[in-house]
Amino acid sequence: MLSNKKIVLGISGGIAAYKCAHLVRLLVKNGAQVKVVLSQAATQFVTPQTLSVLSKNEVWTDFFDASHNWNNHVALSEWADMMLVAPVTANTLAKMAGGQCDAILMAVYFSMRSKVVLAPAMDLEMYQHPTVKQNIEKVSSFGNHIIPAESGELASGLLGEGRMAEPETIVAFIKNYFTKDLPLLGKSALVNAGPTYEAIDPVRFIGNRSSGKMGVALAQHLAALGAKVTLVLGPSSLKLNNKHISLIRVESSEQMYEATLANYKQQDIVICSAAVADYKPKQISEEKIKKQEFGIDLELVKTQDILAELGKQKENQCLVGFALETHNLIENATKKLKNKNLDLIVANSAIDEGSGFGGNTNKISILNKHNKITHFELKSKEEVAADIVHYIIDFIKSKK
Ligand code: CTP
Repeated sequence: MLSNKKIVLGISGGIAAYKCAHLVRLLVKNGAQVKVVLSQAATQFVTPQTLSVLSKNEVWTDFFDASHNWNNHVALSEWADMMLVAPVTANTLAKMAGGQCDAILMAVYFSMRSKVVLAPAMDLEMYQHPTVKQNIEKVSSFGNHIIPAESGELASGLLGEGRMAEPETIVAFIKNYFTKDLPLLGKSALVNAGPTYEAIDPVRFIGNRSSGKMGVALAQHLAALGAKVTLVLGPSSLKLNNKHISLIRVESSEQMYEATLANYKQQDIVICSAAVADYKPKQISEEKIKKQEFGIDLELVKTQDILAELGKQKENQCLVGFALETHNLIENATKKLKNKNLDLIVANSAIDEGSGFGGNTNKISILNKHNKITHFELKSKEEVAADIVHYIIDFIKSKK
């Protein structure tokens, strides 16, 4: 039940808005108090009068009401336990991602203090468009939760992904959010992610192709399940603005070592997903190295193995590593699991299609220290993150 939970429902202008009458009824039936904010475009699909009757509350469509009084969006944000925006159109999504505040719906969104849940709805090609995908990623990185669009018949007559999740699914998510005991509440988790850059001179470095996406997705998922998360992130272009994650930006393997070790002791879960350089230049030239007539030799020395050090210092932490391999995946991952004193290792291939660095998908196997191997399908990095985190939760439970 949602007894007395205060929910602001934002509706943007897509055909799926017609489902919001049913959505409001369901929310109210489950005990929620609902206040509705519509975009102007949404009023073409569902009337404010219908929503007002069903929610038993006033409905907002503009910055000022009919008597020219200011609709205080900040007060609405303070009132709410959650803001749900359903449907989220491509246009509204772009405004959320870009900071455009041209309607009361956007002002309420940008003022919102509590959890924001977004249920996108678009036509087939729109939902697949790279800009839309990028915007979904961006708004998720702000800590918003996305209820993905479902597959089925779309308003255009096309079949495919893009339908707004059914009101029943949305309400089930909200009920789950409010009632479930977040399994990681009170737990601390540390993730390191991204590449490292090892300076050669003031302008050059040795780096690698890691994007940091997998580690960021892990940090987001841990935070979504209630953990207090610290993310040590190498030089990745990803932007993160999640109030539940403390972000430490580093560049070199040495900085990553310092930051990871300094935050290690107090953690329950530690995941090293970073692609740490194994070698660094012995000396960093203070001046830009000038071009020589012939080649030059660069002397490299080993960096510290962060994960191996964590393994040595391990107390009660559940320590998780990654193994990125081109060959003999399971064999090599098993060696790393043992040699670095890990609880779990996530093995992935650097050469399998859809796996490894850069892309948005990954195919993993998880090996635990009791020699159990679990294989997973090719999935988006967000889904892979969810699989890993759930595996860790079950693993910790099974130890008790
Ligand atoms: N790792 C680390 N510090 C390093 C190198 C690796 O903490 N200097 C961690 C990675 O974050 C990952 C795990 O060790 O969790 C395995 O990394 P990987 O690059 O697959 O293996 P390496 O141990 O570096 O061995 P190799 O490169 O020979 O496969």
